[in-house]
Amino acid sequence: MNTEYLPADAAGIARAGELLAHGGLVAIPTETVYGLAANAFDAAAVAKIFVAKGRPQDNPLIVHIADVGGLSELVKQVPESAKRLAQAFWPGPLTMILPKTGRIPEVVSAGLTTVGIRCPAHLVARDVIRAAGVPLAAPSANRSGRPSPTSAAHCKEDLDGRVDAILDGGASEVGVESTVVDLTGETPVLLRPGGVTLEQLRTVLKTVLVDEAVTGEVKPGRRVRAPGMKYRHYAPKAPVIILDGTSEEVAAYVRQQPGRKAILCFAEEADMYSNCCEHVEIYGTQADIGTMAHRLFDALRRVDALDLDLIFARAPASGDGLELAVLNRLEKAAGFCRIALGGEM
Ligand code: TXA
Ligand code: MG
Repeated sequence: MNTEYLPADAAGIARAGELLAHGGLVAIPTETVYGLAANAFDAAAVAKIFVAKGRPQDNPLIVHIADVGGLSELVKQVPESAKRLAQAFWPGPLTMILPKTGRIPEVVSAGLTTVGIRCPAHLVARDVIRAAGVPLAAPSANRSGRPSPTSAAHCKEDLDGRVDAILDGGASEVGVESTVVDLTGETPVLLRPGGVTLEQLRTVLKTVLVDEAVTGEVKPGRRVRAPGMKYRHYAPKAPVIILDGTSEEVAAYVRQQPGRKAILCFAEEADMYSNCCEHVEIYGTQADIGTMAHRLFDALRRVDALDLDLIFARAPASGDGLELAVLNRLEKAAGFCRIALGGEM
């Protein structure tokens, strides 16, 4: 298949809409990460997403709408909690899981009775949805097991020749995927931390529980509420190990390890590692969690391309705010392998 490369101007958006309306697959920019979109009402088109990505069939897709009005035909009822969250955070990086109507094909929801809905903030994403004239089912536009794409170049690396088009809307601003919250039970449950923080959710909803898959490894055979959380995504070829401690402790530890090593770290402490690692990859500043989120997946792709033996990573100190999402993605890259150095941790 010849993949078309489209700029995010009026003509490019119109072409993307046309391809999608005719059952094609198009990688589109959103404010979180790029999505691999298909007409959510077209089961055959959606099935092609799973093939292009190499995605397990049991992992449901998020349906993207251009405005809140699009919600009512897709879900059976819109609870008060969903109305309040939509009012506060849509358009934006929040996905709500709700009971689905018959309009959503089985393949989208991977056989579940629920569906995840998101109204993205990215203007190009919403324009493409309008141009297609239908809601768009879209997982992240990476090959399964690769870090989510935050640029058109990342989409090209993974999907060139496998999709009809890639629409280039520049770098994704947030850099980590949307927050997923399950509203189908009595109490809302956070299934995946993301661009909208737990603290923000709790300003709108009295109680939000946190699913155990957010903070710990899911044991094999265990049922999880967000099927995607059980996979060890974002995993570079070399093992990733998160190191907690002072930069002195980390440098001393890394120096003792054999092999060719990279470290993913903050700008403030990068100098400490230059003499103990083959490669030092700065993914943000400790003082600004936004930069870490924005650059994390690009940094993981870069270190992966170097073919080293071991990748060490520094993680944000707390699990507060956007740090919870960054920490969660790092822990998934590391298969939850985390070592506390020194006495303080
Ligand atoms: O920011 C995002 O959410 C991006 C952009 C493209 O919108 N999309 C994205 O999709 O990250 P994906 O497929 O990579 O991740 C969707 C996550 C998976 O963990 C999936 O298991 C979960 O949401 N999910 C989707 N539908 C669900 C449902 N009905 N019930 C529970 N979890 C669901
Ligand atoms: Mg994904």
